[in-house]
Order: sequence, then C-alpha cells, then structure tokens
Amino acid sequence: MTKSRLPANRTPEIGAFFPRDRNWHPPALTPAYKTSVLRSPQRPLLSLDNTLSELTGPVFGHNILGELDNDLIHNFAGPGKSAIGPRILVYGCLLDERGIGVAGALLEVWQANAGGRYRHKKETYLAPLDPNFGGCGRTITGEDGSYCFRTIQPGPYPWPNGPNDWRPAHIHFSIFGHGFAQRLITQMYFEGDPMIWRCPIVRTINDRRAIEGLIAALDMEATIPMDARAYKFDIVLRGRRSTLFENRIEGN
Ligand SMILES: [Fe+2]
Repeated sequence: MTKSRLPANRTPEIGAFFPRDRNWHPPALTPAYKTSVLRSPQRPLLSLDNTLSELTGPVFGHNILGELDNDLIHNFAGPGKSAIGPRILVYGCLLDERGIGVAGALLEVWQANAGGRYRHKKETYLAPLDPNFGGCGRTITGEDGSYCFRTIQPGPYPWPNGPNDWRPAHIHFSIFGHGFAQRLITQMYFEGDPMIWRCPIVRTINDRRAIEGLIAALDMEATIPMDARAYKFDIVLRGRRSTLFENRIEGN
C-alpha cells in the first residue's frame, strides 16, 4: 500500500545518532500547559555522549506480535464484532535523519475511542466505553521503514488544564528504533481538525512547520472504498527534521 520513495540499496543506520535539536522542539516549561510546570527540569540539561548500550540496544523479539496487533478495529472485539467509529488506515514511513527508512522498528499506538474515552482506570470523561475497542496496538516497520495499521478515528476529549480545554483527536505513538537513542514518543493529529490550533499542548510548539509535521494528511489514493479512509503520517527519528517528542508521558 505504501509507495516508498526510499532507495533500495540503503544501509541501516549505525554509529552515533544525531542529537535532538532543542530549538525545534518546544521548551520543557510552558505554563499554559499546566502539567509542564511540575514536570520540567529545574536545572540546565547535561549532554552525554551515546554509550554502546544506547547505540546497540535494546533488542526485542519480533515474534511477539499477534496477528491482530495492527488492527485496533478487531484486536479487542468479540467474535464477529468490531469497534464503533469512523474506520481509518494510518500508514507512512519511519525515517532516520537522512530520510532513509528504519526497518524492524517497534511502533506502538494508543488512543481514545470514537467518543473520546480511554479504557483506563483513572479515566473520568463521561463518554461511554466501547466494549469492542481496547485502544492500543502495535506493528513493526517493514524493510523500507513503512508501517500501516487499522483503527477508528478517535474523538476529541476535555482535560483539566484551563477552564475549557479540549484535546484534538489524536493517536499516541511510541517508537523503538535500533537503540534507546532512537526512542520517540509523539502524537499524530488529523488534517482539517480545528481543535489542533486551540490545544494548549500543541501551542507549546513555536514553529508552525513543526506542528504541521504532526498532522496526518487525508490520502484518498490509499483509501479503501466502502471501508476505510486513509491518513498518511511519516515519522522522523532524531536530527533537525525530527518529529516532535512530546513532553507528556501518556494519558493525554
Ligand atoms: Fe491522549
């Protein structure tokens, strides 16, 4: 499904990883995003050289994935059932700082259901759970760094930040590349969602191009007629064009 633009003779990334560009990423302390006040470092950061274990590990077994792990419409559904909501495909390429696909990376996703409700014991939003939707899945990138999973489009939800703040519809991503230095946690948004530009978390990002890099484009070419629309989201690990690393661990 994914049309790769990557050269067939690419070589895997080895050696030292590119450092993260902290001018491209949002500052850690952004008071309008209330949680950042307590979570941001109080002292200047120290930069350490990559150690061997950061460059070579961790290594995880690729045989741990189940058949439905990349299908959130069905992976928690009862027999003959499926999750409620707009059916979508999310696909793209995982790229290193040179624009070369990263093969064999573990990509995990989690999200709210179509009503904006998470399946989590601390969730308090009044929207109902969908008994056939768990909200998490995973996949491994292919030889050219491509990935694809099926899910339903999550709903926006309110969160206790300001008096009336809502998160835009989003999917959380966690990515393990070839080592700890290639870990990325980020969020994907949907093209055309007016809530993106009102979100206090998104607004911690100073550069509009960086925000646009987090917005998946509707792709009618990859859409499956009478089944699911498709959204394309390419992810860059490290380097100057890195997809932004969010500063909230999980849950929002
Ligand atoms: Fe969230």
